[in-house]
Amino acid sequence: MGDFVLIHEMSPRDGLQNEKALIPTADKIRLVDLLSACGFPRIEVTSFVRADWVPQLADAAEVMAGISRRPGTEYTALAPNLRGFEAARQARADRVAIFAAASESFSRKNINCSIEESIERFRPVMEAARAAGIPVRGYVSCVTDCPYEGRVEPAAVARVAETLLGLGCHEVSLGDTLGRATPDRIGAMLDCVLERVPADRLAGHFHDTGGRALDNIAVALGKGLRVFDAAAGGLGGCPYAPGAAGNVATGPVVRFLEEAGYRTGIDLVALAEAEAFVRRLREVA
Ligand code: HMG
Ligand code: MG
Repeated sequence: MGDFVLIHEMSPRDGLQNEKALIPTADKIRLVDLLSACGFPRIEVTSFVRADWVPQLADAAEVMAGISRRPGTEYTALAPNLRGFEAARQARADRVAIFAAASESFSRKNINCSIEESIERFRPVMEAARAAGIPVRGYVSCVTDCPYEGRVEPAAVARVAETLLGLGCHEVSLGDTLGRATPDRIGAMLDCVLERVPADRLAGHFHDTGGRALDNIAVALGKGLRVFDAAAGGLGGCPYAPGAAGNVATGPVVRFLEEAGYRTGIDLVALAEAEAFVRRLREVA
């Protein structure tokens, strides 16, 4: 039996946040329930952010309240600050995620503050999460490229990743937000980050604009990472990263991993049903 690779399913959150037409709450709940049937260990359901910044996810609390929770699946939510954390806790998120960036300009455009200010905002979130016994995941966006600044230095990524871990995040997900990274650049970035953060505390979050996400996953696997983010149907994008395509599609990731001898525990038949639902959502959106 090969190593287990954990897939953190993104489609309800990172996937839907960029869809322009508002998707009915009931459809979001249906999507999460279809994903639960696939056996994902984690599903990122929504974000507790400003509704005027991400209107698509304004129904975060309703979605969380409406889903059927499958034992064995953790339902996670994004929380940029204490207010978001409190809302996520009240909605019974099993895990929350804070999100920082390796580029100053992206940090300002995405969360309206500098990298340093974002870290200060995260401190009370970490304290409240510790008190509530809720694990916190950290994201670093723009690990190779920033839509506003161009190339990002690996050392900047390593610095932010180490800081998030130092704050108490159990895991840091490294985001190729623009989806333009190539395997050599992902490899160089990881070599630098791995000097400060061990592989078993890192996840790969690759968007697939340039079509290299599976190759980037292969490089990250070679360096010891065993957690990857993906979205059913390749849904996704970030409203503050113009031109970025969706997350790497979950089906191809699962097939790629299983052909390479890894285990994921994902039911591909159930996943095909979820993917068909995603296609229908897109047709009507
Ligand atoms: P801000 O305006 O700087 O916040 O926004 P503030 O603290 O100054 O508060 C201003 C007002 O916002 C106040 O309202 C707050 O209550 C309200 P008022 O008192 O004036 O009526 N407010 C909130 N409302 C709802 N929920 C909250 C919240 N916080 C404050 N949590 C903030 C800062 C971070 C909130 C804003 O910039 C924001 O919502 N940004 C969200 C951006 C976002 O969701 N981006 C997409 C997700 S990140 C991503 O996709 C990348 C990732 O996938 C990895 C990758 O691919 O790289 C993770
Ligand atoms: Mg993303």
